[in-house]
Amino acid sequence: MLGTETQRHPFLQGLSKHRGAPPTVIVIFGASGDLTSRKLIPAIYNLSVDNLLPPDFHLIGYGRKQMENAAFQEAMTESVKTFSRRELNDEIWARIRDTASYHSGGYDEPEPYRKLGERIESIEKELGREVQALFYISTPPSVFKPILENLGASGLARRHRHGAFASKVVIEKPFGRDLESARDLNAVITRQFDETQVYRIDHYLGKETVQDLLVRRFANSIFEPLWNRRYVDCVQITVAEDIGVGSRGSYYEQSGAMRDMIQNHTMQLLSLTAMEPPVSLDPESIRDEKVKLLKAIQPLDPGARQGDVVRAQYAEGLVGGKKVPGYAQEDGVDPDSATETYAALRLSINNWRWSGVPFYMRSGKRMARRVSEIAVQFKRPPGILFSDAERFDLASNTMVIQIQPDEGTTLLLNSKIPGLETRTQPVKMHFRYRTTYGSNTPEAYERLILDSMVGDSTLFIRGDETESSWKLITPILETWEKYGRQGMESYVAGSWGPLAAEQLLWRQGHEWRRAGP
Ligand code: NDP
Ligand code: BG6
Repeated sequence: MLGTETQRHPFLQGLSKHRGAPPTVIVIFGASGDLTSRKLIPAIYNLSVDNLLPPDFHLIGYGRKQMENAAFQEAMTESVKTFSRRELNDEIWARIRDTASYHSGGYDEPEPYRKLGERIESIEKELGREVQALFYISTPPSVFKPILENLGASGLARRHRHGAFASKVVIEKPFGRDLESARDLNAVITRQFDETQVYRIDHYLGKETVQDLLVRRFANSIFEPLWNRRYVDCVQITVAEDIGVGSRGSYYEQSGAMRDMIQNHTMQLLSLTAMEPPVSLDPESIRDEKVKLLKAIQPLDPGARQGDVVRAQYAEGLVGGKKVPGYAQEDGVDPDSATETYAALRLSINNWRWSGVPFYMRSGKRMARRVSEIAVQFKRPPGILFSDAERFDLASNTMVIQIQPDEGTTLLLNSKIPGLETRTQPVKMHFRYRTTYGSNTPEAYERLILDSMVGDSTLFIRGDETESSWKLITPILETWEKYGRQGMESYVAGSWGPLAAEQLLWRQGHEWRRAGP
């Protein structure tokens, strides 16, 4: 049954071309945590279902918590049962579970790393062959540095430094909290690892529709000629969530929408939408183009009156018909908090292709609904033929790439209403993933874990890329810090954000689309 699903599902067929990871020991730091349980373990299980794990695959959980192997195996089984997109098949899962082990140790002491090294060597002895060690850092960022340093000091970073068995390190977000800390982290990494061993995660890049952006742009000849300032009026990127901060209040207080979403996820969406065609699909060519694009973005002046940046916090409101508290009343949040739960920006890209085209981005928690999309709005045709507004309801042609939840693409066109009189209205042409490919598509983490095992860094962030993005964002954060709550807007939970964000577009003669298909 599972085999048949793999054979007929086009996405999975696509994935299966990426086989070829060498025997792998994956060590997850922070293995008792939320991300491990909700995303990493289910992703590993689903890769196994699709027969994409290397035959000699071992999972080691690492953390300060004392735990027996059996307890770890049980906890991982629960996470598959609860969070996997496919039901647990005991025969398949047993292959991972029965060899999985847990390694208790601090993150900043050398001894547990030495023992971890011995454990990996003993696996090699049992198998009678070398393995690659993949270190997945899934802890809070405060311990990224000690882990990286200890991987270096213990020699684990340099196990088989070159070639197929070279150690690899996957680093979760957030990668730093400003330009300086990102540089600092990059410097630690460079001391211990070669850049080819490093995989900085942005899980948005693992989403199907985000990967499809490159295909959409460069495997179709009809879009590229229009993808420039001559035809595009503006681009709107929306990453809206209906959830609040939930139990993550204390994390979010240190973060805010700008660090949590804009600096990474939305910037990545912008880069892929606006970058020049790469010379090839190899990771460096694509990442070179993304960096060039980020460097072409005009720095913002966050202190300017009626500037290009808006920040806001949600107030009490209704989401899905239910009353929800304001941000300041959430657990773990300072009642006088100056942390933004919403940010909107207007960016200008100073290059030949995009000069004069505004790129609007917004992201927020507790918005009207969960929707992530990129909308490319084209210029209107000259209003010579269809100028009578009574009869001709005309919209700007817009191509909307829906990233989630209802993955697909919508093209907004103007069309004649059937009848004896000529009247027009905007209509939508839809392409839906679920209709064409079925709904059980791989999760982002499946693709990213597989790619890191195989050694394909295309969907990961390079060191200079993250620094370029922080370079744009850091002055805004510094200004906000200086002003505290002054200038912080408010929006009702369940709405589309503050009025100031609407005004940001009105000033340019634009308005936010009602996001969604
Ligand atoms: P958790 O807070 O659940 O922490 C993971 C593990 O790290 C804990 O189980 C604990 O294990 C250890 N840990 C927790 N706090 C500390 C601390 N202060 N110092 C040292 N160790 C600590 O994190 P998540 O699993 O939620 O997130 C892991 C990483 O993934 C983070 O960098 C996060 O930003 C990122 N991320 C998380 C997402 C999510 O949805 N959860 C989404 C995207 C990214 P032990 O006590 O055994 O050492
Ligand atoms: C994470 C943020 O990176 O992305 C979370 O830390 C956010 O705050 C999440 O909820 C959104 O991811 P997705 O895949 O649900 O859009």
